[in-house]
Amino acid sequence: MLKEDIISYGKPKSVSAEAYRALRTNLEFSMSGEGAKTILITSSHVSEGKSSVASNLAAVFAMQNKKTVLVDCDMRRGIQYKKFDIQNNNGLSNYLANINVKEKEFIKITEIPNLYIITSGPVPPNPAELLSSSRMKEMLDGLKEEYDVVVLDGAPVLPVTDSVILSSIVDRTVIVVSSGETHNEELKSVKTALDNAGANIAGVVLNKAEIRGKGYSKYGKYGKGYYGSYYGEEKNNKKKS
Ligand SMILES: Nc1ncnc2c1ncn2[C@@H]1O[C@H](COP(=O)(O)OP(=O)(O)OP(=O)(O)O)[C@@H](O)[C@H]1O
Ligand SMILES: [Mg+2]
Repeated sequence: MLKEDIISYGKPKSVSAEAYRALRTNLEFSMSGEGAKTILITSSHVSEGKSSVASNLAAVFAMQNKKTVLVDCDMRRGIQYKKFDIQNNNGLSNYLANINVKEKEFIKITEIPNLYIITSGPVPPNPAELLSSSRMKEMLDGLKEEYDVVVLDGAPVLPVTDSVILSSIVDRTVIVVSSGETHNEELKSVKTALDNAGANIAGVVLNKAEIRGKGYSKYGKYGKGYYGSYYGEEKNNKKKS
């Protein structure tokens, strides 16, 4: 199950895995020299591929021997616990709501070496409030001391404020765009909301794109469910808006 869901781990030689490694390299360049470690993955709407990008990106960092933690910050629709086949009790919502939960209890190991996970936890009544608490900021500061990379899987920007809140306390924000689905105007609104929060937008990932080219059929080597991700050229927040 894990190998199917996390293609960069399950099929490390695939074109998609290569695209995730390229994304990792781009982020490394973008974050070098300033101790940046926390990366938020978000998008305009639901189902554009945030969780897929977050888990695969976390996996390629871990596979590069970076001690990595994936934090499922989508406390409304968190699914990373399913991908990693891990219990969702003692997750982020428990930690943020209950000061008695200890770090060791809510940071779980995964079957990928160097990759740890904090699952979303049970759906709380007030996710945005929890994410904007000082406890969230302190947790990230603590994780930055312990881990080389912290990848945050976020909620979509347009329906809820959760990721806008998070974007102001992470080092980089990556926007996932779903090929043929995300509208330009929506992307502009997302960028404006993140800019207003003071986010440092690292770039855009074009997801669900058809990959054509030498040696690959229309839907790529693995058929229609093929994962194609491409790290766009939206450096410095320009273009594609
Ligand atoms: N590149 C891709 N090719 C094909 N299917 C994909 C691709 N990326 C994601 N999917 C599928 O799209 C669905 C949504 O993906 P995912 O959960 O990663 O999106 P999300 O933006 O995190 O959604 P949500 O807003 O619900 O959190 C899943 O069924 C996933 O398997
Ligand atoms: Mg998701």
